[in-house]
Amino acid sequence: MIEASDVKKYYPVKNTLFSRTGRYVKALDGVSLSIDKGVIHSLVGETGSGKSTFGRIVMALTSPTAGIVKIDGVDLFSLKKKDLKSMRKRIQIIFQDPYSSLNPKLKIRASITEPLKLNHIEYDEKKIAAVVESVGLKPAEDYLDRFPGELSGGQRQRTAIARAFAISPELIVADEPVSMVDVSIRADFLNLLKETNRKENLTVLLITHDLFVASYISDRISVLYLGKIVEESDKNGIVGHPLHPYTQALLDSIPVLGEGEREVNIKGEIPNPIDIPPGCRFHPRCPFVMDKCRQVEPEFREIETGHFVSCHLY
Ligand SMILES: Nc1ncnc2c1ncn2[C@@H]1O[C@H](COP(=O)(O)OP(=O)(O)OP(=O)(O)O)[C@@H](O)[C@H]1O
Ligand SMILES: [Mg+2]
Repeated sequence: MIEASDVKKYYPVKNTLFSRTGRYVKALDGVSLSIDKGVIHSLVGETGSGKSTFGRIVMALTSPTAGIVKIDGVDLFSLKKKDLKSMRKRIQIIFQDPYSSLNPKLKIRASITEPLKLNHIEYDEKKIAAVVESVGLKPAEDYLDRFPGELSGGQRQRTAIARAFAISPELIVADEPVSMVDVSIRADFLNLLKETNRKENLTVLLITHDLFVASYISDRISVLYLGKIVEESDKNGIVGHPLHPYTQALLDSIPVLGEGEREVNIKGEIPNPIDIPPGCRFHPRCPFVMDKCRQVEPEFREIETGHFVSCHLY
């Protein structure tokens, strides 16, 4: 469904006079990622690692500096305007913040019908009710004539999902969809995504900083560090047998029930993507750093079947 090859996104750094400095923020520094149809694939990494940038590129909301993104074999950035429009019918995005993703002046009914109208998809009252009830807002008639301000945060996020589901997309990009909703309804939301994935063969790119969220529903997981994927495997490979020291540290930071959120247990902070360390980009923070790591960038290699890592330890 998605095939990204060597995708780069460099933002020019401007000085206070808004002129270019010749330096770049390397938000994505060569990302290759394939997602099969009907698969839930998570992209996991700390803040600033480039997750949203990748999501925005897949949605064609921004174009890459280099690289190719194909959706169903079609090069996304060579599409003509008209074809891009029909491609957009097949993809929907769910953002982090259910407060800003719904127009406060539109009733729930209008929020749901807007994408249908925009995409010239026929609908009737029955269909709208079914969509709203499919995300657990039952009976639909109790909700359709309310404004977003008259809903709880969880109900708002459900509405945002219903809006995304309304056009029966083939692909959903969910960018931190549960980080702002109450812990008690996170599982609900993730289960809903999984259910739709199973029933309708929906493909999902789930973007999250939380490896626990990713492991809850993903089939495959890619770990992004400073604009590059450092490890990729099916869920069990990442959670049960992580190879990269960075993935191991992310796993250590998953909170134990009752302890609350823990800091990512690695020394130092994620470096600025303007000054990416030479060699392995993780080496300044790595507990297992060797001389080679400071000089030679490790290749992304398949170590076990379907389990890829870029690390000189292997
Ligand atoms: N329009 C822009 N201009 C300049 N730099 C940008 C722009 N958008 C993003 N960046 C930079 O690119 C890097 C990656 O940003 P991105 O939003 O993709 O990270 P992220 O992994 O989604 O982080 P978070 O978990 O905080 O959402 C960051 O260093 C960010 O400051
Ligand atoms: Mg983000």
